Amino acid sequence: MTDPIAPTTPPTTTSPATAHPYDPLRSDEITAVVAAVQATGRLGDGAWFSTITLEAPPGEDVGQRPRRARLVIVDGPGASVIEAVVDVADGRIGSWHRRDGVRPPLGLHESMVAIAALHGHAGFVEALARRGITDLAQVQIDPWPTGSFGDPAEAERRIVRCISYYREEPGDNGYARPIEGLLAVVDMARGKVLEIVDHGIVPVPTHAGSYLPHDHEPHRHDLRPLEITQPEGPSFTIDGNVLRWQRWSMHVSLDPLEGLVLRDVGYEDGGRVRPILRRAAISEMVVPYGDPDPAHGWKNAFDVGEWGLGRMANSLALGCDCLGEIRYLDAVYADEHGAPATIANAICIHEEDVGILWKHVDLYTNRTEVRRARRLVISSIATVGNYEYAFYWCVHLDGSIELEVKLTGIVSTKAIVPGADTVHAPELAPGLAAPVHQHLFCARLDVCVDGPVNEVHEVDVIPLEPGEANPWENGFAPARRRLDRELAARCNVDPGRSRTWHIVNPTASNRLGRPTAYRLTPGPSPTLLAGEGSNVSARAGFARHNLWVTPVAPDERRAAGDYPNQHPGGEGLPRWTQADRSLVDTPIVVWHTFGVTHVPRPEDWPVMPVDRCGFRLVPVGFFDANPALDVPPPDHCH
Ligand code: CO
Repeated sequence: MTDPIAPTTPPTTTSPATAHPYDPLRSDEITAVVAAVQATGRLGDGAWFSTITLEAPPGEDVGQRPRRARLVIVDGPGASVIEAVVDVADGRIGSWHRRDGVRPPLGLHESMVAIAALHGHAGFVEALARRGITDLAQVQIDPWPTGSFGDPAEAERRIVRCISYYREEPGDNGYARPIEGLLAVVDMARGKVLEIVDHGIVPVPTHAGSYLPHDHEPHRHDLRPLEITQPEGPSFTIDGNVLRWQRWSMHVSLDPLEGLVLRDVGYEDGGRVRPILRRAAISEMVVPYGDPDPAHGWKNAFDVGEWGLGRMANSLALGCDCLGEIRYLDAVYADEHGAPATIANAICIHEEDVGILWKHVDLYTNRTEVRRARRLVISSIATVGNYEYAFYWCVHLDGSIELEVKLTGIVSTKAIVPGADTVHAPELAPGLAAPVHQHLFCARLDVCVDGPVNEVHEVDVIPLEPGEANPWENGFAPARRRLDRELAARCNVDPGRSRTWHIVNPTASNRLGRPTAYRLTPGPSPTLLAGEGSNVSARAGFARHNLWVTPVAPDERRAAGDYPNQHPGGEGLPRWTQADRSLVDTPIVVWHTFGVTHVPRPEDWPVMPVDRCGFRLVPVGFFDANPALDVPPPDHCH
């Protein structure tokens, strides 16, 4: 982050960015570590940089040591990477490991190489010609991560599977006109087309599927201005990457793969900051498609580990992406040449009115007390191919923390014979369908409620047995189970039992003498629907359960492992938890898989209205009472 936010009016104050141990690498630091690595003479000519980030392993106090950069370097066209850790200040190489049998996320320039290779490939051109398409300028080619299906061609290669769409004009919505049945397997590192697969011709749909304004005139004219003003400025302050609002404080940054990262989330209470989260981010996500059609059954996108939510982040626009008194943070990252680059306005920060916070009318006195609720919203939007993911981390006046994910963009489509009965892919427009799929996100929550040692209790609310203690048989009560070991801590949501997971500090207590806690309140999230024997089940094992808990370990960062691209599976949470480690008297990480199962509907076309999913972290005995009693009454109740 470079540009501290210029204050317009108090109380938003900023000082020059104070160096914070968790600040992302600055441009000069990126340049320095790249120079240090190149000076070793150990990199080949074609080497490129997948990610260059601050090295901050879970559980390590990075404030206690010099800053280090972690580099993932691709040095050659095969399945291996170099992982290097470099001291930022002096360029000393701290570690240098080659890891074989793994691939980084898809390279952006290699994706262009794959497209160029297809443009020059006779078989691809012929397959298009069989469909009456002769102008390559009218063909949109989308490189997709190919997965891992045991094809010998995949071994030792970085592969993409390319699918194509027809754009009569450059500004057309390509997803309206899939060039069905045609797949191309390309060695993206070598620019070599390995295979053209033609599953047969389905007519290209004719419907244009435009969502552009000039195609939807006349526009409605009865939306009058809705302006959000804060004449005295917002109530938060930004100091470098440190954000303070009401009693909340946190450090905010954008990781190239995980997107938004919150660190050191704490709440000031009685003159001290009480910690809640050491770190929170989306560690992985998967979009498994449920259509067994040979042209679509292979589709499973890991949009963190195969693409990267941070490096796909949008530059956000005031009045469009975010409305009101907005402050932005830029994100500085290293491009594939190792040069620093900036995504301007990558992180949006603003306050939102969210209705009432609490209210009561005393019917004896007729006195009304009501308070307005607000939340502080930290957001980022990533475009990954056809889809948009918008992430909103929110903290509220009532002490709760929320992650809301909004899903929008354009569904992945296929062409069908109009009117065909496609149970796995509802028809959206004549001759156009969209396969059913899921979006399953795995939030990694490095918890520290009132201190480093927490435990997790699963709490179900269940009926009591009939008997002397329950003479009316009306009884129900919370039933609590401490999750002592990793295998027992693999849990799923159960709305019928109002299931929540309490993150408890057994050594801290409230005024009632009970342990302080935060409760993870899940949404109605599914788990992975693909069969246990499926390829994606092995690769996205994290999505088979909604909850996992692990002890903090420095190498355990991402739910499907560090390199899910083309990985056959078994990595990440399923492997780590086989050790069935103890979760008691130790710092722990809570992993929550949440999301939606998406059965596309006509209203999702041609661009999808926002769908939502997420979860909340709610204080349970963390405070002695409603923490928002001191919120003043509104000035203007008419
Ligand atoms: Co969807």
